[in-house]
Amino acid sequence: MGNVLIVGDLHGNTTFAQAMLQVAKRNDCGKVFVVGDFGAWEHMHSGRRYFDVVNRSAKKAAVTVYFLDGNHDKSSLLHELYDDHRDDEGFLVCRTHLRYAPRGHRWTWDETSFAAFGGARSTDKGWRLAKEARKAAQAETRRRYGSSKRPETAGTLWFPEEEMTDEELDAALEADSSPVDILLTHDKPRGSQPKWNRKDKPECFPNQDRIQRVVETLRPSVLFHGHLHVRYTDTIASGDGRWTRVEGLACDPEASQYLEYSGEHSWYVLRLPYAEERLEGTDETEPSSLPA
Ligand SMILES: [Fe+2]
Ligand SMILES: [Fe+2]
Repeated sequence: MGNVLIVGDLHGNTTFAQAMLQVAKRNDCGKVFVVGDFGAWEHMHSGRRYFDVVNRSAKKAAVTVYFLDGNHDKSSLLHELYDDHRDDEGFLVCRTHLRYAPRGHRWTWDETSFAAFGGARSTDKGWRLAKEARKAAQAETRRRYGSSKRPETAGTLWFPEEEMTDEELDAALEADSSPVDILLTHDKPRGSQPKWNRKDKPECFPNQDRIQRVVETLRPSVLFHGHLHVRYTDTIASGDGRWTRVEGLACDPEASQYLEYSGEHSWYVLRLPYAEERLEGTDETEPSSLPA
């Protein structure tokens, strides 16, 4: 069970999360790592239930699930609830088998060094804020006509903490700028060029530039990320003649709009200890390391 199953965005999809646990078991993965948009919505009853169900399924499969935050995860609440509950490796323990890697977190598994940098910009920010405002107006009307219920709606659909800040990045790189083998992020680095859904929008560039800076500082051999919901492989320069292989992972089927989508595009079996040659020479069209 020494391998790690790296998984793309789950968006709170319980069925797909459980399917990923079965893929992990079949591939001798004792760990699953989700690269953001996991579905950390503990401000809602359904979100707490999702955590409970995934945790129970993970325990049954003898797998521990880790995740970093995507733009659609309420990471401020994770810090509020679990900052004081950390395991020996510094992960925030959300449930016994469910752990969160905060931005800039670094650790080593099986002689392989990792770093995680969550966060991204939501391109549908305006729509999300408008929906929050509509809900707030409805709650106000209900209150006026006698209902005591007036739920807080701010920060329920769009999370102000969604992007990494320059200060967060500076602090993380100042604390440790030594190289890592594997970098896990939600957003893409500015330099990678997937064929679809590059999020080539000015509002998305600042966070992509931050990820690019992480790549050029930590010079990972491989970077896995989510967010684009598209499977692709690219190679980008990381400075001083070094290269980083970028593996973009697809997401759960319900969130995918990619015509050539297959569930296998959403995961990658990372064999540990990591050996660089294992990841060389993969054709761009090859979807992933497939289960046996
Ligand atoms: Fe995302
Ligand atoms: Fe997503």
